[in-house]
Amino acid sequence: MAAPAELALPDLAATAALAGRLAGLLRGGDVIGLSGPLGIGKSELARAVIRTCAGAPIEVPSPTFTLIQDYPLPGLLIRHVDLYRIGQPDELIELGLDQPASDEAWLVEWPEQGGAVLSADRLDIELGSGAHEQARRARITAGPTWQSRLPALLDG
Ligand SMILES: Nc1ncnc2c1ncn2[C@@H]1O[C@H](COP(=O)(O)OP(=O)(O)OP(=O)(O)O)[C@@H](O)[C@H]1O
Ligand SMILES: [Mg+2]
Repeated sequence: MAAPAELALPDLAATAALAGRLAGLLRGGDVIGLSGPLGIGKSELARAVIRTCAGAPIEVPSPTFTLIQDYPLPGLLIRHVDLYRIGQPDELIELGLDQPASDEAWLVEWPEQGGAVLSADRLDIELGSGAHEQARRARITAGPTWQSRLPALLDG
């Protein structure tokens, strides 16, 4: 696999712009991993993806306590997942989170908690802190089904 691509996200608008491009490229069967420390912006990024796909500023609560929040949109069910609180990867099977159906796209916070159960063919976005309070860095790794879409995702 190629080295991760690095993207600077100097402010919230830059995070929203990345989310907008991701929303435009998202399709059924996708698993998007959103990793990085507590409070870095994983839910913020997911929220912007979901709102862009919905075409409206709908409410997108953090799934920290519900584990899964579903957004049935025309032609695509977006499942916003937070694995922070699961005990072990096997719990993903009980939650129906081993493989997405062809009309589902998953946005998964804390994907590392899914171990080998969560699909490895993902787009992974790891957020880290940047040079100032509103700045973030994104390290982006594309699995096989995202390789051809990666240039369009990075082209901000
Ligand atoms: N450039 C940025 N990108 C994303 N979030 C930002 C940025 N600048 C500031 N923020 C703020 O950082 C906070 C990120 O909170 P968020 O709930 O998205 O974090 P999280 O990574 O999902 O945390 P958790 O691990 O608890 O789920 C929000 O308050 C958001 O407004
Ligand atoms: Mg979160």
